[in-house]
Amino acid sequence: MIKTRLTEFLNIEHPIISAPMAFAAGGELANAVSRAGGMGLIGGGYGDEEWISTQFNLRSNHAIGCGMITWALAEKPEMLDLILSHNPAAMFLSFADPAPFSAQIKSAGVPLICQVQSLYDTKLAVDAGADIIVAQGAEAGGHGDSRGTLCLVPEVADYLSRNAPEVILCAAGGIGDGRGLAAALMLGAEGVLIGSRFWASTEAMVHKNMHQAAIEKTGDDTIRSSVMDIARHIKWPARFTARVLKNGFTQRWHHDQADLIKNADTEADKWKKAWNEGNVDIANTFVGEVTGLIHDIQPAEVILKNIMDEAEKILTIQRVS
Ligand SMILES: Cc1cc2nc3c(=O)[nH]c(=O)nc-3n(C[C@H](O)[C@H](O)[C@H](O)COP(=O)(O)O)c2cc1C
Repeated sequence: MIKTRLTEFLNIEHPIISAPMAFAAGGELANAVSRAGGMGLIGGGYGDEEWISTQFNLRSNHAIGCGMITWALAEKPEMLDLILSHNPAAMFLSFADPAPFSAQIKSAGVPLICQVQSLYDTKLAVDAGADIIVAQGAEAGGHGDSRGTLCLVPEVADYLSRNAPEVILCAAGGIGDGRGLAAALMLGAEGVLIGSRFWASTEAMVHKNMHQAAIEKTGDDTIRSSVMDIARHIKWPARFTARVLKNGFTQRWHHDQADLIKNADTEADKWKKAWNEGNVDIANTFVGEVTGLIHDIQPAEVILKNIMDEAEKILTIQRVS
């Protein structure tokens, strides 16, 4: 058993939260993670009302939370009323200042989890009243910034211990097994947020070809890029790129983004068709460097148990030696 302030605060058994991955983390995955003793989050992403409600309606008896991309929530602030009406066990915000939304979340009595990518973001999250801060390193799958997990986490831990010791810290980015969890605890985190490893689960909403591609590739085969956002016509703030598997599409356009913008309409149609068909050479597979540690697709419960067993073993060895 690994008990930390995170397990106590969220009233969960294990210090593991599953990431609110847009399009991939639905109610089934969130349920499975919470049932296994972690905290599952629905990936509210860019805020599709019908999709989010459908996913909440899959909830069983377990507490699950929800995430939204903060700048997308700013464009659709009414989504917060909708999400809070589903009584989430936590609300997760990432990728812009959470301040405009924190009062409403906190007055609903819902824990606020803020994911940060820098010390600057950490200060904003603390000022907004975050209960939990997730320090996300660039190894992460999906969107993020450029700081590595290994330095960012202890730096944020030091900042919190000096300025906001009541705030609980989690680590994210590159954590896919018990070694990652144990290392995160050594760096000063009290839990982890895991995306890619749960993306590679039977409950995640992912095309089987993308799962297969992730199993076959290594961390060397990933890249941070913006080409998929240009192709999808999603206007992400420039500092955030997404980690995906390299493929024909990144090879063609990553170094030629001005030309991609010129050809956006044709390429967008091709990309969307490829996403629906699971054509992994055109559509991008969103997964982190940890893809090199993923060798199978397992139920989320098995993934979580394996991570816990390995971390507990490592931490026990440390205690006795
Ligand atoms: C497929 C995928 C989709 C993601 N979508 C989101 C998202 O919608 N909102 C968000 O805050 N983070 C998103 N992330 C990033 C996660 O919150 C988290 O930081 C990341 O998965 C942690 O690194 P890991 O993938 O190495 O576990 C996504 C990650 C993946 C792999």
